[in-house]
Parts: sequence; C-alpha cells; structure tokens
Amino acid sequence: MTTETSPVGTDAPNAQGYREFRLGEFHFRRDEYFAYITWPTGSHIISVDAFLRAMQRDVAWDFFYGTVNFDGVIGTVNHYGKVDLFAGRYNEAYRKAELDYTETLDTPEIRETFKSVLEDWTNAGFDPFASPHETGSAFGVKAGSNTAAVTRHRVAAARMVGARDDEPRRSDASGFPVNRMFRDVDQDEPIIEAEPGFEGEIASFSLFAYLSRSDVTWNPSVVSVCKDSLFCPTTEEYILPIIHGNDRVEWFLQLSDEIYWDVEDRETGSVRSRVVMKPGDVCAMPADIRHQGYAPKRAMLLVWENANPELPDLIASGKTPTYPIEF
Ligand code: PHB
Ligand code: FE
Repeated sequence: MTTETSPVGTDAPNAQGYREFRLGEFHFRRDEYFAYITWPTGSHIISVDAFLRAMQRDVAWDFFYGTVNFDGVIGTVNHYGKVDLFAGRYNEAYRKAELDYTETLDTPEIRETFKSVLEDWTNAGFDPFASPHETGSAFGVKAGSNTAAVTRHRVAAARMVGARDDEPRRSDASGFPVNRMFRDVDQDEPIIEAEPGFEGEIASFSLFAYLSRSDVTWNPSVVSVCKDSLFCPTTEEYILPIIHGNDRVEWFLQLSDEIYWDVEDRETGSVRSRVVMKPGDVCAMPADIRHQGYAPKRAMLLVWENANPELPDLIASGKTPTYPIEF
C-alpha cells in the first residue's frame, strides 16, 4: 500500500536524509535524535521517538476530542473541520512572555502533512504504536520506512465487534497472537444459543480475549456504539504519548493491572491531581483538565466516550458542567 504524500510545504531531504515540512509559519525538521519545530516567536526540540508516537496518535485519531498536546509546548486543538496547530498556547510561561503562536488550518492540510511527516520520518524498524519493548529504534539517519505501521487501520465498529457486517473479533483466525503479558487471559468465547430465526441477530465476544491480542498500545478502538455512547477499550504499556486535553468528560474503567495518571489544568498545565487506578477502579476525567497515563505493565483500560458533537459548545458556554455528576 502506498500513502499519499502531499507536496505542499515540503523541502528536499536534509543531511540526515529526512525531508523538512512547513505548515503555515511552522517548520519541522528531524535529525538522528530530535524533532525541531520553529515558529515566528520561538523554537522547540522533542526526542524524535516521542514526537513520532504523539503524531501517530494525532493522525490515527483524526485529531481526537479537544486538545492533543505532544508535550507541554506543541500540540493541536480539534475544531472538527479545522485544526489549531499551536506552540506554547497551553503553557502559562509562554503565554505570559507572549511567545505562544497558533495557526488554524483546514483539517485536510494538516492531516496530509502530518501523514507525510510520519511516512518520511519513521524508519523501517520503528513502530510508533508499539510498546518500546516490542519495537526497534526511531533514531539514526534515514533507514527505510514502515508504511504498514504508520497507516494501520484503527478498529472502529459501527455497532459492535462481531455483529453482522461489522468488525471481526480479534480471536477469529485474525492471526493476532496473545501478547506476552496476557498469556494468562482466558481465550474462551461466549456461547450463543439463539432462538431459530435470530442466529444472525445476536453477537458476543470476550473483550478480555480481544484485548489480550491487541498489537498496539495507547490506541483505543471503538468496539461498541450505542447512539453517542462509545466503548473504546485499549491496551496500555509505558507512557501515553500525548497529554490529552478534554473538550468533554470521559470515563475510565480499569480492567486489569495499574495506570498512574497525571492530571493538570488544561489551560496552564499546573498540577491538579495524581490518580492511581487499580483493577475495577472507575473514574471520570473532567472537561477542563489534561491527562497523561503511565502503565508499568501492559494494562487493559476501557475509555468510555460521549460522541455528542454539541458537547464542546455546551461545556465552553457553561450550559453543561465540566464534571459528570453532583454528589
Ligand atoms: C485519553 O486521552 O483519554 C486516552 C487516550 C489514549 C488511550 C487512553 C486514554 O489509550
Ligand atoms: Fe483523554
């Protein structure tokens, strides 16, 4: 499979063999170890493995809900049709010094440019979705590409995994092996005993078996959809490569193992809380924070999202609270 590489805003390869890219007044360059980003009022440097892991999520999730901070300086805000690319916008020190900068871009322009960066900057042995333990190095001069990894299709069920005409169950002869950390997970599937005539109408699958076979980390898949209610389970290992700034409330259900969450103020980045989630724990992340998770061992997490497109405006205008429940 080939990816579409946009000629817009690209330069010839640099001394390390990598192309350089422009988006508005932003410029992106990489060398053996780092990504360098410049804009009219400043510049920034990020380890290139972390940069590629963050950009991979931003592309795969089509800019996600709200803000995707690559780190405390660079990131994107989704306006669902347009996307802000910012530097220092959600960093109190940059704001006070008036060094922050934002470009508002049409979604296709930033999407295609980010895809081109990923295609060009990802070397053959590196998979930005894999845990660091299960992939090769992102570093060094340009050495091949990994198109299959960077264009991976995200599972997004229309109704439910395993339902007629929908996404297949992972354990269905899909060839996905059980992950090294989930060898103890029962692989039995539920038995359906349907009334005659309803055989094609009823579906079931073992979510634990399904997740035990996930080959990616920090990449929620949509396994069930009920109106605006999306169940987005995922397997986590090492660090969530982005700091997510919500534009709505989202719920976390810890299905296995442990995740530590750093929770910060969405606007300034000041610390709000630290959350440790153990199996069976449930928490709601408010709509005015940003969060980043740390998973010491591969962990199963269910992210429960509300896809109602009116939520960002309702919350921003104060008509709906930033928290989900009044005790
Ligand atoms: C989140 O930002 O809420 C999030 C993103 C990816 C994950 C888990 C949680 O894998
Ligand atoms: Fe989030």
